[in-house]
Amino acid sequence: MDKSVDNLSTTRSILEAAERIKKNEVVAFPTETVYGLGANACSDEAVKRIFEAKGRPVDNPLIVHIASFNQLNGVVRHIPETAKKLMERFWPGPLTLILPKGERISQYATAGLQTIGVRMPDHPVALALIEAANLPIAAPSANRSGKPSPTAAEHVLTDLNGKIAGVIDAGSAGIGVESTVIECKGDQITILRPGGITQSELEEVLSKENVHEYKPSKTAAPKSPGMKYTHYSPDAPVYLIDATAEDMQQVIDKEKANGKRVGVLTTEEKKHCYHADYVVACGERSNLFTVAEQLYSALRTFDDQHVDIILSETFPKEGIGEAIMNRLEKAAVKENPSIGEP
Ligand code: TXA
Ligand code: MG
Repeated sequence: MDKSVDNLSTTRSILEAAERIKKNEVVAFPTETVYGLGANACSDEAVKRIFEAKGRPVDNPLIVHIASFNQLNGVVRHIPETAKKLMERFWPGPLTLILPKGERISQYATAGLQTIGVRMPDHPVALALIEAANLPIAAPSANRSGKPSPTAAEHVLTDLNGKIAGVIDAGSAGIGVESTVIECKGDQITILRPGGITQSELEEVLSKENVHEYKPSKTAAPKSPGMKYTHYSPDAPVYLIDATAEDMQQVIDKEKANGKRVGVLTTEEKKHCYHADYVVACGERSNLFTVAEQLYSALRTFDDQHVDIILSETFPKEGIGEAIMNRLEKAAVKENPSIGEP
C-alpha cells in the first residue's frame, strides 16, 4: 500500500473534507486499520449525524481520533502513567485507550459515559485530515451498523452512499481489522477488543501479569457497549467449521443436497480442497496478517455471490489470530450445522 500523501487530488480532497468536518458534516477517511466515518467530536450535531448515517445504536460510544499529543488537552481529563507508556510506544497506531472523558467532547460521542476511547491513527491521510480540520475527530468504522467494516472506499459507498458528505479514497486500508481497545486501571490493563496491536506486543511493554483479557460476564452489562451487538455479518448466515477439509466437504455436500447455494471462506493453501458454489481464499494461513487484511472484503464478496450459507474455516487464536477469530465469532450464528452426520 502506498501511504504517501503526494498526490494533489488527495491533498485537495483532504482539505475539502476538513472544510466539511468544520461545518459539522460527516466524511469517511482511511486509517491504517479500516475506513472511519468522521465528524467533529466537539459538536453534538455532528456526532448525531454519524449515528444517523450508520444506523448505529446511540448507546454504543465512538472512538475519538487525534493527530498530536497536544490534542489530548480537553479530550481526556487524566492520563495514567501506564497509558502514557503505551501511547509513547504504540501511537500513532492501532491502539485505543479508554480514559476519563475531557470537557471538550460531545456527550453523544461517548454515549453519555464518563470515559472516552481515544487513538492516534497511523495513516498520513487521517493525520493530515485531523490537522487540517484542527479538531478531534470522532469516527466509528464507516460501515452500515452490523456489516463488515470497510477496508476500501467502495465498501463505504456500498453501505453509505447518499448518507454522508464524502469519502477520501486512498486505496485499501492496511491492517484490515480494527484497533485494539484497552481499559487502563492503575498499572493494570484489560483488552476489551483484540485488534491491530497483539496481546504479546502489550506484554512486551507492561509485564504479563498486568495485561488481562476481558471475560464478559453473563449477568453484568458489557464493558465495551459495542460487544453486545451483532457485527461484521454478510447477508447469509456464517458458520464456523473447526474441522478437517474432509469434514468441511461433508458439511458442504449436506447443505448442497438441501438445495442451498454454499459459500466457503478458506485460505490460499486450501482453496483447491473444496467443491462448493463459491470459494473465497482470504489470505494465507501461513501468514495470519494477510488473512486479517482480506477478511472483511472476503466477507463482503459473499453478498455479491448471493449464497444462502457461508462456511468458514477457523484460525489459531494467537497474535493477530485473536482479532480474526473475535470478528468471525461475532459474524457467525451461534449453533453450527452438525459435522459428520449423514
Ligand atoms: O480501528 C478502529 O478502531 C476503527 C478506526 C476507524 O479507527 N474504529 C472503530 O470504531 O472500530 P467502532 O466505533 O467501530 O468501534 C469502537 C469500539 C466499540 O466496540 C465501542 O463500544 C468501544 O470501541 N468503545 C468506544 N468508547 C468506549 C468507552 N468509553 N468504553 C468502552 N468501550 C468503548
Ligand atoms: Mg465498527
